[in-house]
Parts: sequence; structure tokens; C-alpha cells
Amino acid sequence: MKLELPRRPRRNRKSAVIRDLVREHEVTASDLIFPMFLTAGQSIQHPIASMPGIFRFSEDLLLNEIEACMNLGLKSFALFPHLEDSFKDSMATISYNKNNIYLKAIRTIKKHFPECVLMTDVALDPYSSDGHDGIVKNGKIINDETIDVLCKMSLAQAEAGADILGPSDMMDGRIGEIRSVLEEAGFSETSIMSYSAKYASAFYGPFREALDSAPKNGDKKTYQMDPANQAEALVEAELDYDEGADFLMVKPALAYLDVIKLLYDNFEIPIAAYQVSGEYAMVKAAAANGWLDEVKVRNEMLTCIKRSGAKIILSYFAKDFAAWKKNQ
Ligand code: PBG
Repeated sequence: MKLELPRRPRRNRKSAVIRDLVREHEVTASDLIFPMFLTAGQSIQHPIASMPGIFRFSEDLLLNEIEACMNLGLKSFALFPHLEDSFKDSMATISYNKNNIYLKAIRTIKKHFPECVLMTDVALDPYSSDGHDGIVKNGKIINDETIDVLCKMSLAQAEAGADILGPSDMMDGRIGEIRSVLEEAGFSETSIMSYSAKYASAFYGPFREALDSAPKNGDKKTYQMDPANQAEALVEAELDYDEGADFLMVKPALAYLDVIKLLYDNFEIPIAAYQVSGEYAMVKAAAANGWLDEVKVRNEMLTCIKRSGAKIILSYFAKDFAAWKKNQ
């Protein structure tokens, strides 16, 4: 049998070099942001059971970890604080106290590594005794009062030297308010990466273990988006774009590639995707059982997230990926 085929797509796959030539998307270490967890104290490297290879670091060891990443060509970091319950209150007051461990660590990191990009988290949950991203009153999350706290927190983080603020709270109108507070205080160079389409996802489970930040009551469905909705992501993204966001983020990543593509097709600013804790945990667990090849699955996932339109990927695999990439 000999077919007369004018087009044989397999010709473009016939060798490794041809495949390299025609490859459309490739992930590099410079596409990645490494989320890291900070805790109080000294010489602490506390493992997160559901996220093998990920730790809560005290500031001293966090600096070592950042240095190791920088040497691998991984230079962007997203920092999250873990606080003891005794520091938390219903108004997340500690979040903008200049002497809190988070703001101190931001100052130290930027002093040691001025060239790194340091992204922060703007939300109440790590500091709130209610474990919600906003202020809770009578069982409800109060939007506008929460924004006062978010603005104070944002200003404190900008003052500490953060390069990118990451509002992850999903309150309405927060990007515009944060932007104007920053402008008034002279921080026009501080960027905002909005968690624009952040879904109420069960994939955040391991993260809440890492930070001890699970909601004390109820869930986050009155502010985070319903996983069943796509068009609503455009509403959120349009608002954030109009209010001055520099980047739009979709979170989680792998189960939301359609949303990433939707934002990519509709906006000119860079789209980021957050491959969240549960996505990491699934791969790690399967690999530990010998059921999946971790490196291949990890690389495939990251490539597919990039292919769908995310220029930037926040990933707990960032350091391992950068180390692997360096040896290629
Ligand atoms: C909360 C926040 C969460 C994550 C980042 N910021 C959890 C949540 O919304 O409950 C999740 C990250 C992850 O799962 O890796 N402001």
C-alpha cells in the first residue's frame, strides 16, 4: 500500500533536531516565579507533609534558598508568611506592622539580592484569626472595609521594597484602590499582578496546611469564583485591567487552561498562571508511588500551561525545573 499524500505531518517530527526547529513553546527558568513560605525564628526548615520538597523557612535559611535559586537562573519569587495564631486578629492588624516577619524579610531579601523580583501576597488570610481573605462580620466577608486593610498592607509591602504586589483576595475594586494609594505615596514603579480569575478550588488544600490558614468557618465561595464559570473571568479581568493591573493571573492552572487562553486572547498585558499546591501534590504523590514519571509530567504540565497563553508560571516545581534546565 502506498498512499499519495501531499501532506505528511510526521515529516516535521522525524528527528530530534527537526522537532526542536518546529517547537512552538518552550519553558525557561525566566518564565517562572517560585512561591516560598516564610516562618519566624532561626535555622528553621519545616517540611510541609503534603508538599514534599517544599518548606517553611526562617529568614536566614530563606536567604540561602534564594541564593541557590539565583545561581540556577531562577530569579523571581513569591513570598507567603506563616504566623503563629497568637499574632492573628480579626482585622489582620499585624499585616501592615513594619516589624512583622514578612516586611522585615522583604527588606532583607531586597538588600541581599536587589536584582531579584520579589512578589508579595496581598490578602488577610495569613494574618486573620478567621482565616478568610477579608474581614468577617456576622458571618459575611465585608468588601469595602477589607480594602482599607489591603491598601495599608500594600503600602507597607511597597515601602519594604516589593517589586510586584499580588492581591489574591478577590475583593471588588481592590486593584484601583491599591493603585491609587501607591501613586499617592510615590510608588508608581511598584507593579501589581492581580489574581484576577481565582477560583474557589479544592486544589489549595496543601497551601492552607503550609500556612495554617484554612478558614475557621465556611468556605471562600462568596469571593472566589465558581469553577463552573468562564465568562465571569472576563468580567474580573476587564475590571483589573481598567483599574491598572500590570499582569492578570489565572489560578489554579492545569484545570483552567481554557480560562488562561481566554484572557490571553482578550488582553495585551502578560498573563500569569498559578500551578497551585494541589497540582504539585498530585504529581509528587503519584511519582512517589512510581505511577508517574515526575520530571516528564512536570515538564509537560509547565509546557502546556505556557502553550495555553501563560507567559509567567508560578510553580512549586520552579527550583527543580531550573536545576534540570541548567543541565540540559
Ligand atoms: C490566599 C491564597 C491561597 C493561595 C494563594 N494565596 C489560598 C486560598 O485562597 O485559600 C493558594 C496557593 C496554592 O494552593 O498553592 N490568599
